[in-house]
Amino acid sequence: MREVAVKTLNLRKEYDGFVAVDGINLEIYRGEIFGLLGPNGAGKTTTISMLLGLIPPTEGDAWIDGFSIRKDPIEVRRRVGFLAENLGFYDNMTAWENLVITAKLNKVENPEERIEKLLGRVGLSNWADVEVGKFSRGMKQRLGIADALLKKPSVLILDEPTSGIDPKGAEEILSIIQSLAREEKITILMSSHLLHQVEKICDRVAIMDKGKIVAQGTLKDLIGEKYRIEIETDKMSNDILEDLRNLGEVEVEERKVRITTNRDVRREVSAILYAKGAIVLDLHISRPSLAEIYRELLETELK
Ligand SMILES: Nc1ncnc2c1ncn2[C@@H]1O[C@H](COP(=O)(O)OP(=O)(O)OP(=O)(O)O)[C@@H](O)[C@H]1O
Ligand SMILES: [Mg+2]
Repeated sequence: MREVAVKTLNLRKEYDGFVAVDGINLEIYRGEIFGLLGPNGAGKTTTISMLLGLIPPTEGDAWIDGFSIRKDPIEVRRRVGFLAENLGFYDNMTAWENLVITAKLNKVENPEERIEKLLGRVGLSNWADVEVGKFSRGMKQRLGIADALLKKPSVLILDEPTSGIDPKGAEEILSIIQSLAREEKITILMSSHLLHQVEKICDRVAIMDKGKIVAQGTLKDLIGEKYRIEIETDKMSNDILEDLRNLGEVEVEERKVRITTNRDVRREVSAILYAKGAIVLDLHISRPSLAEIYRELLETELK
């Protein structure tokens, strides 16, 4: 059994009768990177705010390292590092000076050593003495990660860490998050509405919509063992189609066929076509993306 670092039980938040988070159950294991995914208004930030002890739940509870957000909010806050969507740095002070303030507030031991190490981790060693007002959004976000880690939290929560950042900057932030999870041995919970980003670094994800968890698991759990093989041939016949249907679910569009199946059937497909005297003009294999799975899940939910 893996150790659970963050757990929620029927966690619910209502605002004047409007249900923002509708009794969710999450289990995040120690040391993993967990992605909380969902469209705008799904309830991600509300969930995170409850986990941070910033807003009280209407019902249910959550635990960080076994400490209840209702009963032990101080212990919870001590253990959680947080990167908010809007960072509150002093623009007229340097990166180093800003981190010194956070270190003092959190009574960090050997602050200079820790600040130096963290600036290195987020790739800002050469920017320590530059005023934060001169930083790009991506650099500020990286400084925010260093800031959240100063107190050596056991859980790091990031709300939309790549929002408003260009693809290259986003890539850098994601790879920093990934290496931190390994080097600092912390548990990471990040929210995002960008699937392809989460897909790259998260061990497991939960998909949220309208306050509910629609699906939760590893990407393999959610995507399943699904393969999609697309073929174009010079001729198509009912005879060929009949044989292809033995391999999986078949969709046809003139001389193009798509087979969805649970294994790689390229060899069989080629053999069938060859036997019927048809030529393979194009053959392509792919796995459905998380974006498609996401759409499917949300559509099922709407039905
Ligand atoms: N203080 C509040 N009072 C009333 N309704 C609120 C409050 N905070 C959030 N909500 C509502 O709760 C729902 C969930 O909001 P939340 O901010 O958690 O979504 P989100 O998943 O973080 O969305 P986004 O991707 O836009 O950040 C929204 O419909 C929002 O309008
Ligand atoms: Mg949000």
